[in-house]
Amino acid sequence: MATMESLIGLVNRIQRACTVLGDYGGEGMSLWEALPSVAVVGGQSSGKSSVLESVVGRDFLPRGSGIVTRRPLVLQLHKTEGGQDYAEFLHAPKRKLTDFVGEGTCIRFWHDRWIGDNTLKDLYSELYVCSVVKDACISEVLWIPEGATIRAFGIQWVMPGLVVGLGISGLGNIIRTFGIWFQAAVRKEIQDETDRITGRSKQISNIPIHLSIYSPNVVNLTVIDLPGLTKVAVEGQPETIVEDIENMVRSYVEKPNCIILAISPANQDIATSDAIKLAREVDPSGERTFGVLTKLDLMDKGTNALDVLEGRSYRLQHPWVGIVNRSQADINKNVDMIAARRKEREYFETSPEYGHMAHKMGSEYLAKLLSKHLETVIRQRIPSIIALINKTIDELNAELDRIGRPIAVDSGAQLYTILEMCRAFDRVFKEHLD
Ligand code: GDP
Ligand code: NA
Ligand code: MG
Repeated sequence: MATMESLIGLVNRIQRACTVLGDYGGEGMSLWEALPSVAVVGGQSSGKSSVLESVVGRDFLPRGSGIVTRRPLVLQLHKTEGGQDYAEFLHAPKRKLTDFVGEGTCIRFWHDRWIGDNTLKDLYSELYVCSVVKDACISEVLWIPEGATIRAFGIQWVMPGLVVGLGISGLGNIIRTFGIWFQAAVRKEIQDETDRITGRSKQISNIPIHLSIYSPNVVNLTVIDLPGLTKVAVEGQPETIVEDIENMVRSYVEKPNCIILAISPANQDIATSDAIKLAREVDPSGERTFGVLTKLDLMDKGTNALDVLEGRSYRLQHPWVGIVNRSQADINKNVDMIAARRKEREYFETSPEYGHMAHKMGSEYLAKLLSKHLETVIRQRIPSIIALINKTIDELNAELDRIGRPIAVDSGAQLYTILEMCRAFDRVFKEHLD
């Protein structure tokens, strides 16, 4: 008996396979567009990236004051049966970023020279953890060859956020390499990949970054982090930026399959919320909009957000969820997510204003609400998804007949993989109905 979970998992895999193949939408309704995703909308520094991190339960999105998110980030979460967490970027499909520096895992190379896996394997059998450095410069990524011995000289290398220095024996001069804690590595790669297109400026780009996270501890979900809506261009930005950002954000959230997290900070008037304005425009009935109120902890003393949270200020179809994310001071102190969630839960449970509704507040509740909603949506969409898949199976078969069945990893093999997944989807769906 297949579970809804496995169905959502399959949906995710099909989405990813379509992405790899370059099915970004194109003409008509593609398979990708038929499947649900979750996107954040809101003003700059309203807490969008922070909320997404909480929903996902992972610390790896660049966040902070000012314009930090400058390209859309399409993040796919894949629930695995077990094993280690790892992350993979579409622009670097062979690098697996993990949170553990060990045999067969990936480390980052701190050197101006690229050394391929084979070279490394041939030359060096031992890797030495020799120093711990913060904020080191990082360039390429490579695999630690299987069978290599990892020797730690310091125990700090297992601490989050720290960059680990590895020295490789077998050379006159030690080539220094750096392993890096997974979350920091993922964040760094997002920043680098952003800069690669936009430069280190305040420019934005609508070319998305695609990232997949594989873990036993996530729910299957596709989430999209977007640049913040602004009201004025700042130094170094073109005059059109306000409109450009709005158009980019709209292009994601106007899709009927997009679930909108409309983020508004509690320390600003809800009537001026750009998130609500845009959400209302693209989703007038509010059936796919979730109102999220951040920064409850930053409200002026003596004021509260009950009017908003209880739906009196602005009524939404789904209930409003109040959130307390990490403050900038928390970020600077490297407060981890578990501690942040504990603090958030305490905040609501001990709050004189929100105590009575504490069980319907906070990041964890939002994550649950979302995954429940997602299931409902997928259930509703199943007939049209199946129709699309049947069409796709026929199209894929025709395409395979034309190019021949695959023997190696090429576009044929990719097509074949998608075909197999579509069939599996069909199967799981039918089992689910039984
Ligand atoms: P984004 O620009 O909308 O993606 O917002 P970020 O998630 O990058 O957050 C912007 C800044 O606001 C960061 O310094 C966060 O620490 C801070 N912030 C976000 N949410 C909250 C919150 O609920 N409470 C507090 N105190 N600070 C928050
Ligand atoms: Na920001
Ligand atoms: Mg952001």
